[in-house]
Amino acid sequence: MDRAAFSHRLTTTLQDMYDRAATSRQGLLSPVPVSRGGELLRQLGYPEELIRQIPEKLQDCAFPCANPLPRITEFEPESLLDLGCGAGLDLLFAARTCPQLDRLAGIENSTGLRDQAKKLLGRFPEEKKRITLHAGDFNRLQRISPAPADLILMNGSFNLVYDKPAFLRQAKDALNPEGTLLIYDFLLTEALPEGFSREPDNWLWNIGGALPPADLDRIAGSIGLQVETIRKLERIDPVVRCEIVIKR
Ligand SMILES: C[S@@+](CC[C@H](N)C(=O)[O-])C[C@H]1O[C@@H](n2cnc3c(N)ncnc32)[C@H](O)[C@@H]1O
Repeated sequence: MDRAAFSHRLTTTLQDMYDRAATSRQGLLSPVPVSRGGELLRQLGYPEELIRQIPEKLQDCAFPCANPLPRITEFEPESLLDLGCGAGLDLLFAARTCPQLDRLAGIENSTGLRDQAKKLLGRFPEEKKRITLHAGDFNRLQRISPAPADLILMNGSFNLVYDKPAFLRQAKDALNPEGTLLIYDFLLTEALPEGFSREPDNWLWNIGGALPPADLDRIAGSIGLQVETIRKLERIDPVVRCEIVIKR
């Protein structure tokens, strides 16, 4: 399969998986013994008072890699762009936690999860006024052309990008001059088995698209971005769950 065909197949496979995940506990997600919903949000340290405000069915539509709220609070952005925002929980939580955030936007390719995000925001009319949801593929960020943001968040979506250099070039343009790209995802601790990343299904759980730290550093550097910090959150060989801060 050539690169364009692979990238297209990956995008449609992901759309299908997350559309199914939006409405049911069945599908590709069910055979994998990982926490979901409120249990996952609590394990990752999201504040209890925020979780409790969300109906359980909408909690089930959260698929984060980590709780980004402490870092978002620390960075004090006035604008936030969440790429692969899913059902919009991070957008809502950020809007509730950071009063200085006056412009929040999310981009999401799954119709099912976008519908859940609309339901969620419908329950919070004050925050909804500050939040814009865009439909679309973040690999084609230039087409969607969101307003540049102080902070771009990717909570579990960076490793779903096939062509990372092409994507990062567009992400750089979507950042304000002093902007920050905040990624929560896996990096490799050891090489993946030969051929593993050639199978789209192996990308669905964010492993097939994981990079070694040195490759991320090199790719970011080649387009004028700087990997400022990598914080290791949990080692699960052959990957480590990380917080990655990239500066423009
Ligand atoms: C692991 S989930 C994380 C969702 C959300 N950030 C959260 O914390 O709940 C990855 C998300 O990225 C979205 N996604 C994957 N590929 C995408 C693409 N090419 N364009 C836009 N969204 C995409 C998926 O539909 C899914 O909502």
